[in-house]
Amino acid sequence: MRVLSGIQPSGALHIGNYFGAIRQYIALQEHNDAYYFVADYHALTSVRDPKVLRGYVFDVIADLLALGLNPDKATVFVQSDVPETTELAWLLTTVTPMGWLEKAVSYKDKVERGLPADHGLFAYPVLQAADILLYDADVVPVGQDQKQHLEITRDIAERFNHIYGNVFRLPKPYILETVAVVPGIDGQKMSKSYQNTIDIFDDPAVITKKTKKIVTDSTPVEAPKNPATCNLFKLYSLFADPGDISEVERRYREGGIGYGEMKKRLAETISATFATARERRAEWAAHPERIAEVRAAAADRARTAARAVLDRVRNACGVG
Ligand code: ADP
Ligand code: TRP
Repeated sequence: MRVLSGIQPSGALHIGNYFGAIRQYIALQEHNDAYYFVADYHALTSVRDPKVLRGYVFDVIADLLALGLNPDKATVFVQSDVPETTELAWLLTTVTPMGWLEKAVSYKDKVERGLPADHGLFAYPVLQAADILLYDADVVPVGQDQKQHLEITRDIAERFNHIYGNVFRLPKPYILETVAVVPGIDGQKMSKSYQNTIDIFDDPAVITKKTKKIVTDSTPVEAPKNPATCNLFKLYSLFADPGDISEVERRYREGGIGYGEMKKRLAETISATFATARERRAEWAAHPERIAEVRAAAADRARTAARAVLDRVRNACGVG
């Protein structure tokens, strides 16, 4: 199976990215032909400083490698190293009805939050469809927020196939329901754009500070609490082992566990979970030339795969 996914270099990666997407990337690299990329063309819709963008791209590659993506198993590449992507985006755009993009929630959300409605933001899902279709992806691991983008991708592919014959393979989203939406410190979906993240590579002291800010109700220590509605518990259950989770769950229901204790436990668990990755991250960061090598080799592989599909598409629609 061809597995493919992308992540935007628009800020530090957070634990929502990890549980919602990256952990699945790591698992799926084992028995599949996996392609993962840093979506810098997409990030241009929000990052407008070239130095900052280059820095984020480097950081995301280093983060993914430190977390366990293995360049001998997976192709970890940068979107703009394969400029064929933008050509396919144009070919797809010619069969994409305006209405599909007008109803895209990510575009509507961004506009509501006051971001300028550039054409790039509007056409974002078409570029994403190009990313996926250009590699004949079968499976696309993502968080719940990307579900609609995947539906639009399939719709565009079906429409293209209907007009030009059987050109594209139809990809399927891979969304793990248990981690589909990881809450942030304010209880909303954790997101780089909401300033509510706990970042994977935050220092332990910062993790402690951020966990202290996690919003809870004001139920006193002795009172019974409902774990299902508590953000702290939700976050804790992502990290802790099953024995600890059921102990904490019991103490929630019986009463006797306070939010202060939970915050401390959570901060310790998060820091411990990423301790090894933090060390590996420092090693990669100290060797930018190794990152450059990984990037160049992956770009070659990705470009070869992309070229074959793009030729097929150009041929089907009569250009070139
Ligand atoms: P952000 O929303 O912080 O900008 P991205 O859009 O770069 O994150 O998302 C990268 C991947 O991480 C996507 O597959 C996305 O669905 C997933 N993801 C992001 N935030 C969450 C979250 N809070 N819970 C689960 N998955 C998430
Ligand atoms: N839009 C995705 C996000 O914000 C990132 C992305 C770009 C992507 N292209 C992709 C994800 C292709 C999966 C497949 O998270």
